[in-house]
Amino acid sequence: MHIDIITLFPEMFRGPFDASIVARAVEQGLVQIELHNLRDWGEGRHKVVDDSPHGGGAGMVLKPEPLFAAVEAVRPLAAEPGRVVLLTPQGRLLTQAIVNELAQFPRLVLLCGHYEGVDERVREHLVDDEISIGDYVLSGGEPAAMVLVDAVVRRLPGALGSEASLAEESHAQGLLEYPQYTRPADYRGWRVPDILLSGHHEEVRRWRRRQSLLRTARRRPDLLAKACLTDEERRWLEEELASD
Ligand code: ADE
Repeated sequence: MHIDIITLFPEMFRGPFDASIVARAVEQGLVQIELHNLRDWGEGRHKVVDDSPHGGGAGMVLKPEPLFAAVEAVRPLAAEPGRVVLLTPQGRLLTQAIVNELAQFPRLVLLCGHYEGVDERVREHLVDDEISIGDYVLSGGEPAAMVLVDAVVRRLPGALGSEASLAEESHAQGLLEYPQYTRPADYRGWRVPDILLSGHHEEVRRWRRRQSLLRTARRRPDLLAKACLTDEERRWLEEELASD
């Protein structure tokens, strides 16, 4: 996969992308990440990229010319034209389903918005998709682009040590993950549930599935409403919740 990031602050990405799974995926050649400074396409001697809003109002708006020029210069640098994604609080709320969808594209071109926003013609005529990472406002799209890249890259085949962890983790099946424990079996008198030490694989699987349902019901009833449960699981869950 090829990811281009067009930003006014390329240096923000160095630390996060130089560590962990993203760095390893880059080293393994699973993903190429190119950072481009929007300022390079700024206008005039001062490399201007923003201007005040037509009609008045506070703050500055990113001008269309540098953003169009940047995307038009960056696109021919790789074989695929790529899906152009603007990070903005007005975008589609990022979920695992959207991450999985984005991970299918051979190339993404991410645009990090700044200031009060971007000129509307950028949304209308340059961008294919708009993504928000949550209902809060960041000072720029950069942290959102980092979140998106991390979530997408770990989906790429070979990026994780074990692909099995993908199937079990939270949100993989629309549920939160069950509680995890490691050694020691007794820490300060807090014991790991006996079932996990029993070696009965089928019992462990059943316990985990039920814990996953219970945890999702208590913490994220919105997710549970969309999940697929057997009648027996529904009955069991109702009983458990009744005793809360
Ligand atoms: N830019 C500013 N806030 C944002 C958000 N919540 N998601 C994506 N991009 C943003």
